[in-house]
Amino acid sequence: MKVLVTGGAGYIGSHTVLILLEAGHEVVVLDNLCNASREALRRVERLVGRELVFVEGDIRDRALLDQLLVEWPISAVIHFAGLKAVGESVQQPLAYYANNVAGTITLCQAMQAAGVQRLVFSSSATVYGADAPVPYQETMPRGQATSPYGASKAMVEQVLEDLCRSNDLWSVAALRYFNPIGAHPSGEIGEDPQGIPNNLMPFIAQVASGRRNTLSIFGNDYSTADGTCERDYLHVMDLAEGHVAALAHITTPGIACYNLGTGNAFSVLQMVERFSVVNGVEVPYAFAPRRAGDLPAFWADPGKAGAELGWVARRSLDDMMRDTWRWQQRNPYGYRQGYATQTP
Ligand code: NAD
Ligand code: UFG
Repeated sequence: MKVLVTGGAGYIGSHTVLILLEAGHEVVVLDNLCNASREALRRVERLVGRELVFVEGDIRDRALLDQLLVEWPISAVIHFAGLKAVGESVQQPLAYYANNVAGTITLCQAMQAAGVQRLVFSSSATVYGADAPVPYQETMPRGQATSPYGASKAMVEQVLEDLCRSNDLWSVAALRYFNPIGAHPSGEIGEDPQGIPNNLMPFIAQVASGRRNTLSIFGNDYSTADGTCERDYLHVMDLAEGHVAALAHITTPGIACYNLGTGNAFSVLQMVERFSVVNGVEVPYAFAPRRAGDLPAFWADPGKAGAELGWVARRSLDDMMRDTWRWQQRNPYGYRQGYATQTP
């Protein structure tokens, strides 16, 4: 199948492109490189020994999308492109709605005009909102968003529901990711945050490597076993495989949502300790005040993805730790060479 992957140069996208190519699909990537490097895709091509088509451009560029969908006989789209920093979305809501919501609408308009109506969308566990009971199940309603980022994901799910209701040629899978971490086991591709990482695992890895001094653990007075927040961390390779499973499933009309998580939760302290033990490195940390908007604990009920997509997360927490560290050691400054600053 020929698949258009928007945002395919990014963290989850690059791992998914690799799995798609390995599964024999042909891939066209559209990415504006606002949070990614072209080098990630060169490495994917080397790892798989196959080539892909890369188009540098924006999902909000309708003329480009029209041209691309005419040029390539695309059967389905996997849509990762978007902005993802929760805190930044509070400061710049318009940028997040323009990119994530308006961008998706432009993409769907172009797809509809071209008669390409199979879509896998990157949603998020954040759509369950602040008050949902755990574990999260797809039968629960979307909750009150805790940030413009979260709201943008919920809005897109609503748009896609309405679109599928209006026209039964559309077939959509909205994948609600929990906390993807880890890297390809080769250490050649991985997560490459720009500047100070927002997310826990890249921060732990940068502290372990000496690029940063200390991990701040945001809050140790939550109502959890050790007082730190608990999350459902899943290996990015498992998550990538979930997209290929979803692609095979979008053959019937309508939209279906799937939780992609392991069903297990680990605390921040457990993550730090496990990283140290598995990799034999120290991760100095200090407790800091809570981070605004963080929920104490949430994890997936991944049963629906297991039953309908035949997908389960297979890789262990130790795999996630080892693969994160291999990527960090081989690429201390990510895809950029020679960049060296130390910040706390
Ligand atoms: P990422 O930033 O690494 O990847 C996003 C990619 O989209 C980047 O390559 C970026 O350059 C590109 N992009 C952004 N705006 C674009 C635009 N207008 N046109 C073309 N390309 C554009 O992020 P990721 O972690 O790989 O996340 C992929 C998707 O999954 C995002 O939609 C994100 O919101 C969603 N998601 C991520 C997480 C997570 O923890 N990483 C959790 C839930 C959902
Ligand atoms: N944390 C720290 N110190 C850090 C970074 C994070 O203690 O330097 C803690 C956070 O407070 C949280 C946990 O580590 O308790 C995980 O934080 P992340 O930022 O790694 O992940 P989140 O659960 O906050 O958010 C992730 C994605 C969002 C998505 C959300 C729900 O980044 O895109 O999961 O799916 F919306």
